Amino acid sequence: MKVKFFVGKGGVGKTSVAASYAAYLSSKGYRTLIVSLDPAHNLGDILDFALCDDVTRVDDDLFAREVDIDREIARYLSKIAAGLKATYRYLSVLNLEGYIDILKFSPGMEEQAILEAIKRHIFSGEFDFVLFDTAPTGHTLRVLSLPSVSLIWVEELIKVRRVILDRRRMIERVKGKMPDSPPSEEEEDEVMKELKRIKEECLAIEEKLKSEDVTYIPILNAEEVPLIETERLVSFLRRFGMHIERIIVNKYMPERIPKQAEVIKEIFKKFKDYEIKVIPYMDVSPRGLKALREVCLTCLI
Ligand SMILES: Nc1ncnc2c1ncn2[C@@H]1O[C@H](COP(=O)(O)OP(=O)(O)OP(=O)(O)O)[C@@H](O)[C@H]1O
Ligand SMILES: [Mg+2]
Repeated sequence: MKVKFFVGKGGVGKTSVAASYAAYLSSKGYRTLIVSLDPAHNLGDILDFALCDDVTRVDDDLFAREVDIDREIARYLSKIAAGLKATYRYLSVLNLEGYIDILKFSPGMEEQAILEAIKRHIFSGEFDFVLFDTAPTGHTLRVLSLPSVSLIWVEELIKVRRVILDRRRMIERVKGKMPDSPPSEEEEDEVMKELKRIKEECLAIEEKLKSEDVTYIPILNAEEVPLIETERLVSFLRRFGMHIERIIVNKYMPERIPKQAEVIKEIFKKFKDYEIKVIPYMDVSPRGLKALREVCLTCLI
């Protein structure tokens, strides 16, 4: 299964380009899923097909989903609550539901929910291609860096837990082990087991996002500000060891905006290590499977 992330500044054409690939790949008989991760969805508008949070069949081999972030957050939190309740029964007296309600609005929750949606699809293996239409750059970078950030946190928490378990063992040595005292060995401690499980999960996602099967396609317009932002995006992806498949310049119209001819030279110079494809500005914006497939066939293949 191949996974592609379409990334770039707001309005450059991420959804249109991702949908063009989806229309083309599915027309070739590849089972293709396109997922919109942008809370302000317009994938359905571009595909000209009503979409929802469930994976919906759009054509023989084309499936699509617009992730409902609130629903994904609720699912994630109820999974956490169930896990906590099962492991730590005494928490039932602590008004766990109240805490979980507040967590819904905590910073980072939206990014975590989007990562949950990504996880659901990248490990599923149900499709030949999974294409992610993402939210504008800043938001997407926060999502993609989340596993690495979480790893730093979980490693610190593991250290803290080790100190606690060390202290428990010291007390046991002095006072002897009480019959109902909590375990002091790492292998028996539920909190440590959970922290290690989270660590393994973060490592697995991080590894997957950097694997050869997962590629990133930055999209920009031939304008100075999107170019600067794309340089930052490319250096972020490189730093995190993520594979850039190619770069796409969309809505190119040097006849109408002569400055674009200069900027595109700059783009080819700055990104000379990458394959660059150019899609012209079209008087009729591509919409619907036929028009989208045409864009892919004429400009991207
Ligand atoms: N090559 C093109 N020629 C003409 N219009 C285009 C082209 N590509 C995209 N558009 C139009 O430009 C607008 C923005 O495109 P699109 O929604 O694909 O961008 P986006 O990067 O996904 O935006 P957002 O960041 O808001 O999600 C849409 O109205 C789309 O139909
Ligand atoms: Mg979009």
